[in-house]
Amino acid sequence: MSFVEYGDTIKDGDTAIVFLGHESMFPVKVQHGTVTQTKYGVIRHSTDLIGKKYGSKVTCSKGGWVFILHPTPELWTMNLPHRTQILYSTDISIITMMLELKPGSIVCESGTGSGSLSHALIRTVAPTGHLYTVEFHQQRAEKAREEFREHGVEHLVTVTNQDVCKNGFGVSNIADAVFLDIPSPWEAIGHAKSALKAEGGRICSFSPCIEQVQRTCLAMEEYGFTEINTLEILLRVYNVRTISLQIPDLGKAAEENSSTGFDSSNPSNQGSPCASLQQGTVQFKSGVPLREMVGHTGYLTFATKS
Ligand SMILES: C[S@@+](CC[C@H](N)C(=O)[O-])C[C@H]1O[C@@H](n2cnc3c(N)ncnc32)[C@H](O)[C@@H]1O
Repeated sequence: MSFVEYGDTIKDGDTAIVFLGHESMFPVKVQHGTVTQTKYGVIRHSTDLIGKKYGSKVTCSKGGWVFILHPTPELWTMNLPHRTQILYSTDISIITMMLELKPGSIVCESGTGSGSLSHALIRTVAPTGHLYTVEFHQQRAEKAREEFREHGVEHLVTVTNQDVCKNGFGVSNIADAVFLDIPSPWEAIGHAKSALKAEGGRICSFSPCIEQVQRTCLAMEEYGFTEINTLEILLRVYNVRTISLQIPDLGKAAEENSSTGFDSSNPSNQGSPCASLQQGTVQFKSGVPLREMVGHTGYLTFATKS
């Protein structure tokens, strides 16, 4: 297993996703002799996981079952241990596209944070590209290195423990793209420019507040970036539901009312004269938006060095 190559069978040392339902899953480190508790009972790694195919339905000790999924950056984003606020797949997908990333791209990122975006960037630039990621918090930088090793992607990423605003990305004139998710991105725009290739490249900065965006745009302009553009992506999720609607037969109702004499003073006839004369139901499938919508995450400011 690696986060950049699909493996058919579950092996000792893999990170796998235990899937109980869309709202309930968690990652496990597969280890001989280890057990994992779920609400459906115990999963024994040696007999239930190792050697089985990814995607298998595994029966737990109480008779319930779960699916064991191969990890992907998207599943990792939904399940990773948070050390910071993270970026989610909706923002990540637009970042990947607008930075024009592809296999072979060289990308600089700061800060690494919990490595949510980093995993997606690594998967996109593999097998020949590279991610240079800078994190000034020492424990977070170490934890990210450890995860990249465990996930089989350490050859595709360099984690540097330094302040990107003071010391930059540790590389110059090699990046196709730069991404910033730090509180004061305007202080790193000059370093981003030097990290990008002489012939140019793309930059993106993620900020929750509009005041941060204003300062970043001014800095981008000052350093000669062009095509400066800020956007926000909002995700709307739909559930598929069967809807039942009652069909009033208006023609028949009107006919019967005129022959029987409709009594509007009767409480059961409140509303329209045909409210008490429903003629059956129609059922259809529909997409129903969730009651709660994911709100503002941040503004994404893109620009070009040309
Ligand atoms: C919001 S988190 C990044 C989350 C990351 N994008 C993810 O998806 O997991 C911001 C990180 O930037 C780091 N940071 C803030 N200022 C920095 C700086 N000047 N240099 C390097 N890292 C910095 C913080 O320690 C923190 O871990």
